[in-house]
Amino acid sequence: MSTSSPREASVEVRVRPLPGSSYTVEVAPGLLGRAGVGLKRAFPGRRAFVVSSPRVRRLWGGALAASLRRAGWEAPGWHLVPDGEEHKDFRSYGAALAALAAWDRGLKGRPLVLLLGGGVVGDLGGFAAATFRRGVPFVQIPTTLLSMVDSSVGGKLGVDFDTPAGRVKNLVGAFAQPGLVLADPDLLATLDARQMRSGLGEVVKTAVLFDPALFRRLEAAGSGLLTAHPALHAEVVATCVAHKARVVERDPLDRKGLRALLNLGHTFGHAVESASGFALAHGEAVGFGLACAADLSRALGLLDAAGRKDMDRLEALLAALGLPLRLKGPRLDRVLAALARDKKFEGGARFIVPLRLGRCAVRPLRSLAPVRALLARRLGAA
Ligand SMILES: NC(=O)c1ccc[n+]([C@@H]2O[C@H](COP(=O)([O-])OP(=O)(O)OC[C@H]3O[C@@H](n4cnc5c(N)ncnc54)[C@H](O)[C@@H]3O)[C@@H](O)[C@H]2O)c1
Ligand SMILES: [Zn+2]
Repeated sequence: MSTSSPREASVEVRVRPLPGSSYTVEVAPGLLGRAGVGLKRAFPGRRAFVVSSPRVRRLWGGALAASLRRAGWEAPGWHLVPDGEEHKDFRSYGAALAALAAWDRGLKGRPLVLLLGGGVVGDLGGFAAATFRRGVPFVQIPTTLLSMVDSSVGGKLGVDFDTPAGRVKNLVGAFAQPGLVLADPDLLATLDARQMRSGLGEVVKTAVLFDPALFRRLEAAGSGLLTAHPALHAEVVATCVAHKARVVERDPLDRKGLRALLNLGHTFGHAVESASGFALAHGEAVGFGLACAADLSRALGLLDAAGRKDMDRLEALLAALGLPLRLKGPRLDRVLAALARDKKFEGGARFIVPLRLGRCAVRPLRSLAPVRALLARRLGAA
């Protein structure tokens, strides 16, 4: 990984997950308008097929199409995945493949798939691209803060899948790296506060894991992060991507357990997300999960005086960003049942716990008693 000027509004992060599969993440306001030219240079002789969602196409599809047209691309094919996590399923994956196959028939140029949307479009459309004709190149053009800082980088693709025991998130998928990632923070102008907050949950997670300076930057910006601010968001996105790239490079296929660190706050987060029937956005659940992880550090006596202060700052930042510290909706028994179903509980539970800003540890837990007690407080059921 290499990063140019991480504090400037326009940066490139180079991700080298595996030999021969390195790619660039460009982060800059105004990037969508220049996308056509850059794509032409990087992928000559291809025809573009865009996977997006109805809302995102309405908001930003015209700008992408115009940018492609100006650079001399033929009009691209389009496939729209309906909005919502419930559509990140095998059926929608099949529909995307069918659309790709129909468009591809009889055309001469080789396809390039452009993924214009949030994590749902990126995960599902990327999986379709990675499996169509055994894999065609694809480019992530993330349009949510969460997809800019997290899902568009790292090569994890896939869909949720129905099993006899219910739908399992990301059960079917593949690893395949994008050819390029274009993150344009101007696109966040149309994102609602809730989706922005959701992305900030992952941003705070990254700061707690790796970066006290980023944490201070977030504290200084506070609720200003919730509204469009392209230069600030570019800086935050580039910093988070650089951290994720570093982990992805050391463990590209998630085999060494290093990527598990990125799941700070996610054991609790996934449990409340699923117990709420997905009424919570993913990053909101992660924000709540971060507060729970800090509680667990406290309960296990892992914090020194500085660590206790840091965890108080974490709670204050989550509150300033409007991330939930307490939840009324999900029932304690449901959350505990979801936790117990989590694969991390096979043969004893492992939790990622924060010790200081920038320092975390993995702790095995034999008994769920401390978890039950802290969840009871945070779910208002004590
Ligand atoms: N592959 C990975 O490594 C990885 C990592 C984290 C999360 N994910 C996945 O990402 C998904 C969540 O992604 P998400 O949070 O981006 O949600 P999302 O893709 O569902 O998008 C949220 C909503 O925002 C709308 N939207 C998107 N961009 C917009 C814009 N610029 N303006 C206005 N509205 C816009 C969408 O239409 C959608 O309704 C989950 O399925 C999760 O599993 C994957
Ligand atoms: Zn996450």
